[in-house]
Amino acid sequence: MRIHGRQTRTIWLAADGRGVEIIDQTKLPHEFRVVRLGDLDDAERAIRDMWVRGAPLIGATAAYGVALALVGNAGDDRLDEACRRLLATRPTAVNLRWALEDMRRLLSSLPVAERVSAAYARAAAIADEDVAMNAAIGEHGALILSDLWDHRKAQGADCLNVLTHCNAGWLATVDWGTALAPVYKALERGVPVHVWVDETRPRNQGASLTACELKGHGVPHTVIVDNAGGHLMQHGRVDVCIVGTDRTTATGDVCNKIGTYLKALAAKDNGVPFYVGLPGPTIDWTIDDGVAGIPIEERDPAEVTHITGRDAEGRLTTVQLTPDGSPAANFGFDVTPARLVTGLITERGVCPASREGLLSLYPERAPHV
Ligand code: MRU
Repeated sequence: MRIHGRQTRTIWLAADGRGVEIIDQTKLPHEFRVVRLGDLDDAERAIRDMWVRGAPLIGATAAYGVALALVGNAGDDRLDEACRRLLATRPTAVNLRWALEDMRRLLSSLPVAERVSAAYARAAAIADEDVAMNAAIGEHGALILSDLWDHRKAQGADCLNVLTHCNAGWLATVDWGTALAPVYKALERGVPVHVWVDETRPRNQGASLTACELKGHGVPHTVIVDNAGGHLMQHGRVDVCIVGTDRTTATGDVCNKIGTYLKALAAKDNGVPFYVGLPGPTIDWTIDDGVAGIPIEERDPAEVTHITGRDAEGRLTTVQLTPDGSPAANFGFDVTPARLVTGLITERGVCPASREGLLSLYPERAPHV
């Protein structure tokens, strides 16, 4: 995606070929700051403290984190330590586990002397594959948006209203995004898309990140409070919801940022299609029941009791919202059952949110009989 007129990804190898550079997303939209990750500690901190976030970008960062960890010591113990520490950074996004398993499988089969260069090469490939998968999600999703637009245009609408939650755009991936890739691709095809952006408390990924990237690309959008979606749907002002996911089960249950489930319920009640964009590595083939099986991250209650923004002098400032001593709970994600999902938009095409649907696109995952 373009930043200040330059094609930019969310993670890239530094000019010295050793360090890795990222955008510190905790500073957006107020400051565009590039941070260098130089070792395993840096990669661990970047994921845990959400300098990078979004399931696919977490996976790519973890892959580079393994490469950084092995410089100077690529033995089995160090590989184990890197995978263990990176896996513990964030529990819900399954792309993290997927990337670490992929790296470990490759690296443990190689002589120690070959591991560092192989680790950097595989991390770069994981990043490139993410870009290609998201571009394909965008193409498949754009067909859905084009069809919906044809229908709405015939009814006299002046734009196609898409509602999204959290940030599942290019900032959540290496490039393009998952939920927002169809929006970008549909715009390229001339569909006049307008995006309702859920602010997404408590960390406001919608208000700060989705709005930032849509604005940067000139996409018409409006930020709304998290509770506004149901009202807009009742009044026919949402044509389709598209969200991303941190982990989707083998049966099509979708885990995503807290509040997604409530949007899916409102969409069902109002006959609004509810789609989920996801690349293959976000599918957890080991879990059937998302509510029972997916670990839900609980973060620092201070993210609920406090909020950070820019003050009148332009300084980033954190203020307290709640009374001193009021306890707060901070659940990061929820699970939308497959029955509320109209379709899953993957890099291989669109399918129903069901085991049969997913296996029709990923037949190699069918249990051998
Ligand atoms: O806590 P975050 O910001 O990492 O959560 C991100 C989301 O929930 C995204 O919607 C999800 O990872 C899909 S990203 C393509």
